[in-house]
Amino acid sequence: MVMKRREFLKGFGAATTAAIAVPYALSSTAADSSVEILLNEPIGTVNPNIYSHFVEHLGGVVYDGIWVGEKSKIPNIGGIRKSLVDSLAKLKPGVIRYPGGCFADQYDWRDGIGPRDKRPSRVNFWADTTYKAPKSYRDIQTGPQKYEPNWFGTDEFIKLCRLTGAQPYLAANLRSFGVGDFMQWLEYCNAPAGQTTLSNQRAANGSKDAFNVSFWGVGNESWGCGGEFTPEEYATEYRKYTAWLPTYGTKLQLIGAGPNGGDLGWTRKFFTKLTEKGMGQLNRMYGWALHYYCHTTGKGDASVYDENEWYDLLARSDRMDSLVREHWQVMGEIDREHKVKLVVDEWGAWHWQDADMPPAYLYAYAGTLRDALISGINLDTFQRHADKVVMANPAQLVNTIHSLFHTYEDKFIETPNYHVFEMYMPHAGATAIRAEFVSPEVSFSRFDAQRKESKHEFWGLNGSASVNGKTVTLTAVNPDARSPRETEINLRGATITGAKARVLSSTDIRAKNSFANPNGLVPRDEAVTLGTGGRLVYRFAPASVTRLTLTIA
Ligand code: AHR
Repeated sequence: MVMKRREFLKGFGAATTAAIAVPYALSSTAADSSVEILLNEPIGTVNPNIYSHFVEHLGGVVYDGIWVGEKSKIPNIGGIRKSLVDSLAKLKPGVIRYPGGCFADQYDWRDGIGPRDKRPSRVNFWADTTYKAPKSYRDIQTGPQKYEPNWFGTDEFIKLCRLTGAQPYLAANLRSFGVGDFMQWLEYCNAPAGQTTLSNQRAANGSKDAFNVSFWGVGNESWGCGGEFTPEEYATEYRKYTAWLPTYGTKLQLIGAGPNGGDLGWTRKFFTKLTEKGMGQLNRMYGWALHYYCHTTGKGDASVYDENEWYDLLARSDRMDSLVREHWQVMGEIDREHKVKLVVDEWGAWHWQDADMPPAYLYAYAGTLRDALISGINLDTFQRHADKVVMANPAQLVNTIHSLFHTYEDKFIETPNYHVFEMYMPHAGATAIRAEFVSPEVSFSRFDAQRKESKHEFWGLNGSASVNGKTVTLTAVNPDARSPRETEINLRGATITGAKARVLSSTDIRAKNSFANPNGLVPRDEAVTLGTGGRLVYRFAPASVTRLTLTIA
């Protein structure tokens, strides 16, 4: 939780700021901020699937972000880009969601299995729909982004998962196919070889071993591209799709197509209708998928922005915190035991694509320091809500929207988002603990489409903490473009015996990596000196994401 510095002063009185035993008091005169880490207030285990990913047949994600083909000169493993596999595996990814997104509700899984030269070609969902496509996409004339060749399908996707150590999460087509098709995909993936026609087909296609896919999405954005359903209609479909499914010995974790951002009505009406047939229906849902993208007015440029636009987007990304709280509360009105958890399987900052990207690479940009802070803000949010959020997937893995990688033919770079994921890894599987941040706020102006100005304030320091054995990990974002946050860090319940820092920051708020300069923005390690008795005052750099690793006794 973030406390404003002046609320804190009001609450305890100016004289108490120097007192020793009063919570949240600053005993350092230099410090303008404080963090109280409350070791004895666990929130829950940070589900490693909070560090998950999303791959859709959209723009340059699959072709050529992931799939380069077996005959390519680009180093590959059975057609899958090797540099991406190596880099992603280092992050120990939770799950990878596939094949969409909107694409999923127009996809026939049968198109993407078996000999590649026999697979059909279709028009990609993103290249030709009655939806008013963005200008850039109307420019696509040909290529795999327009005429989907199905070179990459279920077989290749499972291979990607196996190569990187991720679990698969498949999204079923609810809009243009039926329950039978979903059940057959399930059979193809999970039935033991030698037992059914489809599992034999899978074995003939190269995998005797069942894929054991546990996570299945029941449609995607069913309020929009996934069928334009009402929540009540979708609840009826959901019941139908999830009734009496064969498991083939794999526990199915079914995920419902949840709300578009703050649409609490979608959540409330869905849960009300679903449980009309009894509360037992809740046992058929593992997660409720919330989607939220932040963007400035008119989406905006990925790498050209001023300080106001910097703060504006960071503040908009922070809306995730209230979305999690609000949807959780509404779910709890019906699901009183909170059997169903939140899955945020699309999140990130959505800009227009960089001008130097091929038109077919829809929403491709290399990402900047601003996107990195947005990664930190979102991951910290999920960790603070470790009791509610069991999976989160930025959209998307490579070459689109909030990506971790950027590729073009033989060129490959890790974006600043990648580095934040790497920095936050120690949280995965650890126990999230309460941390209270107090700091001065930052102010900024927001301009609407008519350039009308409004004034806003945003927190000056926020983050999350977790404990794993004798290590406490504190991650934090300082959004202030110019000022550091001199911060007193107090650990309640143990003594800090050692500390080190890893920092992603730059004096240029537009810093990024590019093909020409792949290490333009990478984290640096810093030594941290403790005061007597383990006292820790740390200066969070301006415009930064920081991980503090604290050894405790
Ligand atoms: O991630 C891009 C698109 O955004 C997805 O296909 C869709 O689910 C969402 O609207």
